[in-house]
Parts: sequence; C-alpha cells; structure tokens
Amino acid sequence: MNDYFGYKNKICVVTGAASGIGKATTELLLELGAKVYAMDITKMAMTGVEKYIVVDLSDKESIDKAMEEVPTHIDSFFGVAGLSGAKTNYYKTFTVNYIANKYITEKYLKERMSYGGTISYVTSTGGLYWEKYAHEYEAFTNAKTWEDMITALHKQAKEDTLGMMAYPLSKRALNYYMSQLAIELGPKKIRVNALLPGSTDTGMKEEFEVEAGGHDALIAETGTANRLATPREMAYPLVFLNSDMASFITGLPLIVDAGTNAMVNLKMKKDRMNMPVGLKIFNLPFIQKQLAKQLEPLNKPKDKQEEKQESEKIESPIETPKKEETKENTPKEKEEDKPELL
Ligand SMILES: NC(=O)c1ccc[n+]([C@@H]2O[C@H](COP(=O)([O-])OP(=O)(O)OC[C@H]3O[C@@H](n4cnc5c(N)ncnc54)[C@H](O)[C@@H]3O)[C@@H](O)[C@H]2O)c1
Repeated sequence: MNDYFGYKNKICVVTGAASGIGKATTELLLELGAKVYAMDITKMAMTGVEKYIVVDLSDKESIDKAMEEVPTHIDSFFGVAGLSGAKTNYYKTFTVNYIANKYITEKYLKERMSYGGTISYVTSTGGLYWEKYAHEYEAFTNAKTWEDMITALHKQAKEDTLGMMAYPLSKRALNYYMSQLAIELGPKKIRVNALLPGSTDTGMKEEFEVEAGGHDALIAETGTANRLATPREMAYPLVFLNSDMASFITGLPLIVDAGTNAMVNLKMKKDRMNMPVGLKIFNLPFIQKQLAKQLEPLNKPKDKQEEKQESEKIESPIETPKKEETKENTPKEKEEDKPELL
C-alpha cells in the first residue's frame, strides 16, 4: 500500500504528548511509522516512542535541555501543549501557549529543519479574529528572543492576572505568527499551519466547562455534532497538516469545530469571538474577582491525603522506555501510559 502520508521513519517532535490531543497525535504518528520524540511536563512511561522527554515549557532552561535530547535534524514539529489558564496565572499560560512555541521555532526548528519540513501548532477557535485584533499582541509579534517576549509579557499584564485572559491572546498571537512564518519559510519549502480545535474531550474539559458556565453551555458550542470531539478527531487533521498529503497547504488556520464557525458566518449562531481580549476591562479588580469566583471549584485547595499522594508521585524516578521491536510495540493505550501528574 502507498505511504501517502509519508511519515515512515520521519523524526517528529510532539509537545503535550501525555494527554488529550498530543497523546492521540503521538499514537497516530507511531501507527504511521514515525520516530516520535514525545515531550510533556507530566512524568509517564510511553511505549513505542524514541524518547519521552520531561520538559517544562514555561522554563527556557528546561526547553534547552529537552531540545538536546532530540536529533539535530527534525522533520515535523507538533506544538500541541497548552494551558486553558483556568488553573494557572497569566504569565505561565501565555508562556506555555505562545512564547515556548515561538522560542522553539526561532532557536531550534529554523536551524534543524530542511526542505520538506513541517510545523503545526495547536491554537484554538478561541484564537479566531487574530488578524483583526493584532494590535493587542503587537509587542509579541515584534519580539524575537525569549527575553524580549518575557519583557513584553511583564509590560502587558500583572503576573496574577487571570490566566484565562492570556488564553485567547496567546492563541491569536500564535495564529498570526504561524501565518508570518509560513511566508518566511516558504522559499525553504517548509510548511507551517495551525489547527484550531473546537471543544474536545481532553484533560482541559472540566476547565472549559467551568469557564463556559457548565457542561450544556460547552455542548452548545459543538456545531452540528452536539457532542465534544474526541482527541483522535483532532489528531487526524493535525497529522494530515504535517503530512505529504497536505503538500500545497501552508499558512492555514484550520478550524475543526463541527460547523460552529459556519453557523456563526450564516448568522445562525451568536458570534462570541469577535471582540478584543480587552485586558483593560478584565484587569479591573471587580471583574477579576467575579471571574476568580467562577473558577473557584477548580482551584480549591487539596486535602492533606491528596497532597501526600502527589508528593509521593513526584519523587518516583522518570521512566524513559526504549523502543522495542516486539509485537507489544503498538501505540494503543496501555496500563503504563497512564499519566503521573507533576
Ligand atoms: N480541549 C479543548 O477543548 C481545546 C480546544 C481548543 C484548543 N485546545 C488546545 O489543544 C491543545 C492540547 O490540549 P488538550 O485539549 O489536549 O488538553 P490536555 O490538558 O489534555 O493536554 C495538554 C498537555 O499539555 C501539557 N502541558 C501543560 N503545561 C505544560 C508545560 N509547562 N510544559 C510541558 N507540557 C505542558 C499537559 O501536561 C498536557 O499533557 C492545547 O494547546 C489547547 O489549548 C484544546
């Protein structure tokens, strides 16, 4: 059978590989014969990958260390890791969602990718209208280094500003960067795209439910499907974007939302995205207090027993399994693939 996707033996790097869309992407790439370097902040043993690398994408040194573990030549990069901001502050959320992706690209991918390389970031439908509100994140567009981006971040908001305010801005900024980069790297025949998922049943579901105002409110944002997407339903188009099957596609923000955006365009649905992030308004103490209250259930302190169990897990050694040439070496979910939260 023809290898239309062309992933056989390709060096692929996937961030956010421990859960949700990143995990489903890793599994699919393994099924297609890729050599996967999986990264996440969560410690876990993952069967079938070349290397599982623990990294904190909010920390430059940790990223530098992680990139040393990856071969000097990279064929495809999947920037999937992200934070909703419901449990993390503004700085952390923006850094993981935007700064880390841009830093990895500028410092490592530009150097390590050759003709035919592909890059895809997972942004969000929450990052729509990126072209209209580009002035809100202009400082990040102009900043190239990690340090310049962090300076811009500190100028823009206070650290304890609610992380959920960083979410749409980081995703819009990443959609903009993706478009710029696609044009810049076009002459080198490197393609760059983004996947904009609608609501998906992943580790973030509970956080998005609370932000949306409950399960039903989230389901109302699922277009014609009337259900959340599965992680695999996002992995399919993501893996397609970076594959040989998408050879003429670059600079595309691919919306995968079961028609929600089409309904908005046809005026069948209220447009909730066409507005500025409006940091000035959301920074008002009154609004911040209201939003923090809404997110309270997610951030309530853990009881002593839970804390003890978590600290025991952190002390356990990191397992980095070797790829084995056995029948067991399939990307299906296994008992040892269960994540161990940091
Ligand atoms: N689930 C949705 O409804 C939805 C909708 C739109 C966009 N997205 C985007 O999809 C992407 C994947 O998220 P998901 O839905 O699979 O959620 P998820 O929570 O299941 O997966 C996110 C992964 O990112 C990892 N991560 C978080 N912080 C990290 C850090 N500092 N360093 C390294 N890894 C870190 C987590 O450990 C986790 O494995 C994100 O970028 C998210 O914004 C999700």
